[in-house]
Amino acid sequence: MKILMTGGVGFIGLKLARKLVDQGHVVYALDSLLEQVHQDIEAEKALFPGDIIVGDVSDPEIWQNLPRADAIVHLAAETGTAQSMYETDRYRRVNVDGTRYAAQKALEWEAPLISLSSRAVYGEGFADRGTTEQDAHQPLSVYGETKSEGEEVVKQVLGAKVPAVIIRPQNVIGPGQALHNPYTGVLAAFLARLREGKNLSVYGDGTATRDFIHVEDVADFIIWSLENLPPAQESPRTFNLGSGQRITLDQLAQFSIDAVPGGSSAVIEHVDIKRAGDIDHALADMTYAYSLGAPKAKWGPREAIADFIVKSWEAPGAKSEAWDTALEELTERGLAE
Ligand SMILES: NC(=O)c1ccc[n+]([C@@H]2O[C@H](COP(=O)([O-])OP(=O)(O)OC[C@H]3O[C@@H](n4cnc5c(N)ncnc54)[C@H](O)[C@@H]3O)[C@@H](O)[C@H]2O)c1
Repeated sequence: MKILMTGGVGFIGLKLARKLVDQGHVVYALDSLLEQVHQDIEAEKALFPGDIIVGDVSDPEIWQNLPRADAIVHLAAETGTAQSMYETDRYRRVNVDGTRYAAQKALEWEAPLISLSSRAVYGEGFADRGTTEQDAHQPLSVYGETKSEGEEVVKQVLGAKVPAVIIRPQNVIGPGQALHNPYTGVLAAFLARLREGKNLSVYGDGTATRDFIHVEDVADFIIWSLENLPPAQESPRTFNLGSGQRITLDQLAQFSIDAVPGGSSAVIEHVDIKRAGDIDHALADMTYAYSLGAPKAKWGPREAIADFIVKSWEAPGAKSEAWDTALEELTERGLAE
């Protein structure tokens, strides 16, 4: 199959592209190579095993002359939860309009679409159970709103016409995630502090929970979705995607410390900070996906965190001050207290 991957040069895209090509597929990317995400654009481009068309998914012109593909995997998005609260227009344009153009192209080509949404559509999770795909959309950030609207757009454009799958990942982690983008990824912040021999700051009392899924498991799930498409009349089909296991932020910090090559004497410090869009609990209920035969996560949270810390230890990344500056910026805007 020939597969168009929007955002193919990103964290999930690169892992997925490599696996698809290993299985004999041909991939090409439509990616704007966003500076905030890409530290070394040339090196990251070289990791994508196919042609790259540099362009913005929210630019209708760019969609006019794309080579026809047999399937589209739509990954391109603006992904900073807190940043979305003030870069509202940009987030809406890329995440909603970009998704509309991807869906329209899938309709025109009669090519299946796999569209990446987010667990952010749910807003706050539950302390005593996972969220199911039927739970209400109550996003707490503009990012979550745009992902929810993006899902609606896929329904409107492709519903019952072309096979389509919407996937709502939890926190995706693993080697290759951006180490210099202070607008996403608590784990990258922990890595930066640990490399500098600093203690780990956990916002809140450390009892908040998250469901971390390894990027390899995400790539495998997307491939399974491509191989097990719903019939058009049942499209779009929507799936949660997590490991199905929750850990506390304190455990996240401790597992990170435990994984430091050569050991670490860092300790956990709790700081009383709450950022707009922050939630207490997140856990995917994977019952529906597993009932249809979706692959179970191979990586547990501790192993996934260790894999990230160990393989990223020597990789270039921002200093921990970058996260402090991002937090100051949020505080100035009244988005953190
Ligand atoms: N990583 C996570 O924890 C996570 C969790 C939930 C959902 N998701 C979703 O999965 C998808 C992929 O995420 P990721 O972690 O690989 O993100 P990423 O930021 O690493 O990659 C996104 C890619 O899209 C590109 N891009 C951004 N704006 C674009 C635009 N306007 N036009 C074309 N390309 C553009 C970027 O240059 C980048 O290569 C996104 O839709 C994201 O919302 C990710």
